Amino acid sequence: EKQGYKHFMLKEIHEQPARITDALRGRVSVDRGDVDFGEMGFDEEWIKGLDKIVFVACGTSYYAAQVAKYTIEELARVPVEVDLASEFRYRNPLITENTLCIPVSQSGETADTLAAMRQASELGAKCLAICNVIESTIAREAEGVVYTQAGPEIGVASTKAFTTQLAVVSMLAVWLGRRRGTLDAEEAREILQALRDVPGTMDKMLHEKAIYKHIAYNYSDVNSCLYLGRGNLYPIACEGALKLKEISYIHAEGYAAGEMKHGPIALIDENLPVVILVPKNRVYEKVFSNLEEVKARQGQLIALATEGDNGVRDFADVVLEIPDVPEYIQPLLSVVVMQLLAYHVADFKGTDVDQPRNLAKSVTVE
Ligand code: F6R
Repeated sequence: EKQGYKHFMLKEIHEQPARITDALRGRVSVDRGDVDFGEMGFDEEWIKGLDKIVFVACGTSYYAAQVAKYTIEELARVPVEVDLASEFRYRNPLITENTLCIPVSQSGETADTLAAMRQASELGAKCLAICNVIESTIAREAEGVVYTQAGPEIGVASTKAFTTQLAVVSMLAVWLGRRRGTLDAEEAREILQALRDVPGTMDKMLHEKAIYKHIAYNYSDVNSCLYLGRGNLYPIACEGALKLKEISYIHAEGYAAGEMKHGPIALIDENLPVVILVPKNRVYEKVFSNLEEVKARQGQLIALATEGDNGVRDFADVVLEIPDVPEYIQPLLSVVVMQLLAYHVADFKGTDVDQPRNLAKSVTVE
């Protein structure tokens, strides 16, 4: 069933363009500049009057929720809180009847996410689940559900479940923005068209392999690795670090680039690889200065940049590229680079990529 791929994870990475196409199908209308999720059971007036959205999730799904904060606050102008489900459960969270709670879960069975959603519901929130597994507990218990349509994910490390979550999050931001009157049809068309273009663009990126083999060869015996990102790529830096730890067992830490000088800069020397996500976007100059700071301390720099950015090449030891795409789309393409990086390092080390030690696909106990 691996269809010629060495691991399920690699197969699932390569499947992403097709699964994102599935996630968009029948939902996106570029002509109308709108998204149709079918019947969701939420009154349009209620959506207009929302006071806030609270995301609850764990692990990789939590990083999808963090990306959602950027997109939804920008396009729908509603406050978005993102909580780790395990933290939310034992706080006394501020929820009202005008709060929309969005649990995000591939399996739909994660114990903490389910408990957090139930708690939000008891406090009066309405719940809209973003799930992959059809008829899972979280999907069934929520008032509404948007399925990610990723198909079964076998690799323990989540890949296609995450990118389809990001696709759903972008659609949801447009859907909310259109209903709340904060996004006009023209802007929506542009975003939706960019989203439609993702599978084609991603497909081209997946053919590149040599550079990852080169990185694996040079960096797979390091002890630790720092990932820096800013804005909507900060969660992607964290997700990149999580992927590396999970499958290669190399310690890695995702950090907000702007926080580097508040601590992690002390770690930097010639032995520490630093992965920096620095494509052209509103914080490009800011993150570029991190490149200079790392280089000045002899850190090993692996940069993810916009195709053809020669400025970055002057500093970085290795440059990985994504095409020049709008900001909302950058997380979707950047994370594929992070997945391939982790995969090739792990494969070079010879770890059990599909079944990493100590991990379970679905965490149904607290
Ligand atoms: C990471 C990973 C885990 C899950 C987490 C949540 O690769 O797979 O961090 O993302 O356990 O699982 P779901 O999304 O099923 O709730």
